Amino acid sequence: MQKKIVLLGSGELGKEFVIAAQRIGQTVIAVDSYANAPAMQVAHGFEVINMLDGDALDAVIAKHKPDFIVPEIEAIRTERFYDYEKQGITVVPSAKAANFTMNRKAIRDLAAKDLGLRTANYRYATSADELQKAVAEVGMPCVVKPLMSSSGKGQSTIKTQDDIEKAWKYAVEGSRGDVVEVIVEAFVNFNSEITLLTVTQNNNPTLFCSPIGHRQERGDYQESWQPANVTDAALAEAQDMARKVTEALGGAGIFGVEFFLTDEGVYFSELSPRPHDTGMVTLAGTQNFNEFELHLRAILSLPIAEITLEKAGASAVILATDTSDSPTFTGVEKIAALPKTDFRLFGKPTTRPYRRMGVALVSDSVDTPVEGIIEKAKAAAALVTVNK
Ligand SMILES: Nc1ncnc2c1ncn2[C@@H]1O[C@H](COP(=O)(O)OP(=O)(O)OP(=O)(O)O)[C@@H](O)[C@H]1O
Ligand SMILES: [Mg+2]
Repeated sequence: MQKKIVLLGSGELGKEFVIAAQRIGQTVIAVDSYANAPAMQVAHGFEVINMLDGDALDAVIAKHKPDFIVPEIEAIRTERFYDYEKQGITVVPSAKAANFTMNRKAIRDLAAKDLGLRTANYRYATSADELQKAVAEVGMPCVVKPLMSSSGKGQSTIKTQDDIEKAWKYAVEGSRGDVVEVIVEAFVNFNSEITLLTVTQNNNPTLFCSPIGHRQERGDYQESWQPANVTDAALAEAQDMARKVTEALGGAGIFGVEFFLTDEGVYFSELSPRPHDTGMVTLAGTQNFNEFELHLRAILSLPIAEITLEKAGASAVILATDTSDSPTFTGVEKIAALPKTDFRLFGKPTTRPYRRMGVALVSDSVDTPVEGIIEKAKAAAALVTVNK
């Protein structure tokens, strides 16, 4: 049961995962592109490499010979994961899951074409001219996203013909890959959006967490809450889709499956084969196990009998406003003094505008209406200021 884990990506989600692993005696080497990243601060060892560099990645894996490779981000040379699997290393949840979700095309075609899940109507484009044609086909308004990007980078909405050229340029700037290609999706006029945390297990059934609602701005989540208000019919539809897509990707671990809820039914949007940022709400103690503990247990093949909702809760992000290489916080005693409130400060060594530096967590008894809890979490987060 004493396993060695190489964690690829060392942000706040990785940090909570490492803490969960440390609590049951696992060994973790945390990797990222810069030193002193949050998860490195709590791991046994660390490596600083460019994870898109396949040879650098190979060297780290050869050096540490882990039992598990746990990706925390998408921007990794995931093609190499298939080799690691052949070497007998378990890539979490699977090489296929990590590789398919690195590129929006692979996961979208799998969901829409192979599995027949309902998604926004979509096309791909590799030039401004192709984008013109694609927009004509899906109609306006529509959303343009680089195939390789996350956290809303390079993403914009086209409302009029004049926006198309701008959207192409913006996508090129925000793209992470060497080849620039975009997906154009019809704008889904959703009533709400949810993350359905889905846990696949090696020898036990797939389990679902209570749905998490969230609000996005600039492509990043601002508040998340659990439970989200979802009808039984919509929840059943989302669970069915989540089961299909996680089964197709394979492996054991937690997945954050994103959906749009509309009057016409549930739309599959995308998924993370790992803990989801909106799932930080589970750090408020909303469940018997938080999303990081669930991920770890599934990876280690420790049976999870059930996932129970213990409280209603909300999280609200604490963002930086400036660039700094020695950030400090004020207002921490104020948030600390609030009842039913907790917080995390991630320990990121530098800031830039809108960088997520911490999170406020509020919970209450499970029947409490979540709207009031969200307001409390927002107010709590607003008490903390990140200084230059
Ligand atoms: N087709 C669409 N219609 C309406 N809104 C959309 C559409 N696609 C994306 N959005 C909005 O933009 C947000 C971010 O989109 P998406 O999740 O695809 O991007 P991302 O960059 O992968 O974000 P992250 O990595 O943070 O999850 C969505 O949560 C949703 O609010
Ligand atoms: Mg998303």
